[in-house]
Amino acid sequence: MEKKLFRNTCSTELWFAIFISFAITWIFLCFDYSPFHSSNNGVLASSLNPNRLLVKPSAAARSVDLESDTADPCSGRYLFIQDIPSRFNSDLIRNCQSLTRGTDKSDMCPYLVNSGLGPEIEDSQGVFFNNSWFKTNQFLLEVIFHNKMKQYKCLTNDSAMASAVYVPFYAGLDISHYLWNPSISVRDSSARDFLSVISEKPEWKRMFGRDHFFIAGRISWDFRRKTDDVSDWGSKLRFLPESHNMTMLSVEASSWKNDFAIPYPTYFHPLKLSEVVEWKSLMRTKRRRHLFTFAGAPRPELRDSIRGMVIEQCRGSSLCKFIDCSSDGVNCDDPVTTMKEFQSSIFCLQPVGDSYTRRSTFDSILAGCIPVFFHPGSAYSQYLWHFPENRTAYSVYIPVRDVKNWNESIEGILNGIPKDRESAMREEVIRIIPRIVYADPRSKFMDFEDAFDLAVKGILERVEDVRRKIRDGKDPSEGFDDPDHFKYTFSRKI
Ligand SMILES: *[C@@H]1O[C@H](CO)[C@@H](O)[C@H](O)[C@H]1NC(C)=O
Ligand SMILES: *[C@@H]1O[C@H](CO)[C@@H](O)[C@H](O)[C@H]1NC(C)=O
Ligand SMILES: *[C@@H]1O[C@H](CO)[C@@H](O)[C@H](O)[C@H]1NC(C)=O
Ligand SMILES: *[C@@H]1O[C@H](CO)[C@@H](O)[C@H](O)[C@H]1NC(C)=O
Ligand SMILES: *[C@@H]1O[C@H](CO)[C@@H](O)[C@H](O)[C@H]1NC(C)=O
Repeated sequence: MEKKLFRNTCSTELWFAIFISFAITWIFLCFDYSPFHSSNNGVLASSLNPNRLLVKPSAAARSVDLESDTADPCSGRYLFIQDIPSRFNSDLIRNCQSLTRGTDKSDMCPYLVNSGLGPEIEDSQGVFFNNSWFKTNQFLLEVIFHNKMKQYKCLTNDSAMASAVYVPFYAGLDISHYLWNPSISVRDSSARDFLSVISEKPEWKRMFGRDHFFIAGRISWDFRRKTDDVSDWGSKLRFLPESHNMTMLSVEASSWKNDFAIPYPTYFHPLKLSEVVEWKSLMRTKRRRHLFTFAGAPRPELRDSIRGMVIEQCRGSSLCKFIDCSSDGVNCDDPVTTMKEFQSSIFCLQPVGDSYTRRSTFDSILAGCIPVFFHPGSAYSQYLWHFPENRTAYSVYIPVRDVKNWNESIEGILNGIPKDRESAMREEVIRIIPRIVYADPRSKFMDFEDAFDLAVKGILERVEDVRRKIRDGKDPSEGFDDPDHFKYTFSRKI
């Protein structure tokens, strides 16, 4: 970038333009007139866009973001929120007593406060500092995302203007009522109901739902029951024809092309970039006593699994900290329990468990702990919009093909990593932090791109791609059909 600029012959003009753009940016920042801060719901007056004020055609003007060179900074980024009956979203919240956190019986009501972020963490024993830390429940990602969407700067009520349609269906909260229900028709009933409602809307016709997307705070497999065998897991939502035309963003994607993975929510929901910057520098200076850590519960039925092996090796190593979530007095629901140890560890083990991904991956990144993966489905083939492309730069990969004959020592592998490599990896992990946090939906002045922004960017690009295909007379179903980008299956039984 810089080299290109310096090759320009009109250097006086260039320096003048740079100076002017600095001055103007400064003025806008001081007066809170940044293009990112609009009070009129995203329709920005073009006169407030500093890029417009530069004398053209100057090298500097051209070097500033080319895309914002159009009159409307929201152009190509407008989203329309589809209006659906409250039984698909707000009623689920209102009846939170009936929402459980999985197999345990306590309800979700306490977690709904603060726009779905959960209760603020008060006594943090010095593990967290400042505000913006919450006891966030992962299943509430659907609510958090919806609340963030309400603040999105480029919303429109004119669906014809919208590049994509967000459907505020709380798919995971909805299915949580029925996942353990022995009746197939009960398990699928709200999915069918939802799809008949959405496909009746006028917006459906435009692209047959191929510009529609919704969020799930649960893994995709919960919606991908392949057979009508009662013992098979989940609902059939994603295999029904209308759903097939839509894109689902969930915490764990399946191998179907219309599923995309977005980060699990962590406990950190900053209001502004400065909070992230402070946290990052704190994580850089942490003294890390353990070489590696694993947090989880042993599962007798998973003894011959990677998880079983990992626990065995961690227990057998003096350099490993095992947080046994099943033991008395260890409460892994308390964010302090896990985050404290992740901050004191160099590496954090993330073996597959009930599913391929774990929320713990994101908590450990937040703590500056380098993740160690054992399966590509745990991260590399998942969070394509959020994680760096170069996996070796931020993580350690220990492939396990055959658990029974696995004889490698995790301690040996991790101990063999040179210190400078380790610091470089940690720096890369810390660099990811702003990309994987969901900033507080109530923030009035968002000054960085968070996990939500990257997800929206990803979906906009995807829908634009589909639109291009339709324009070129190609088959738009290409990005929606059968699995290809990574192959693995899921076989939980109810
Ligand atoms: C859309 O319409 C609703 C209800 O009339 C209004 O409250 C909202 O501000 C409008 N949003 C935009 C982006 O114009
Ligand atoms: C899905 O999209 C295709 C066009 O790509 C369309 O022909 C089909 O009718 C759509 N399915 C539904 C259920 O709308
Ligand atoms: C965090 O707290 C410290 C000490 O109270 C304060 O100096 C600092 O400004 C706070 N940082 C943010 C980002 O609010
Ligand atoms: C990926 O990262 C590693 C470690 O930082 C580096 O050695 C390698 O060159 C990178 N690969 C690419 C393709 O950038
Ligand atoms: C692990 O097993 C492989 C063959 O299964 C063998 O070649 C290798 O030497 C073993 N490594 C150790 C450290 O025992």
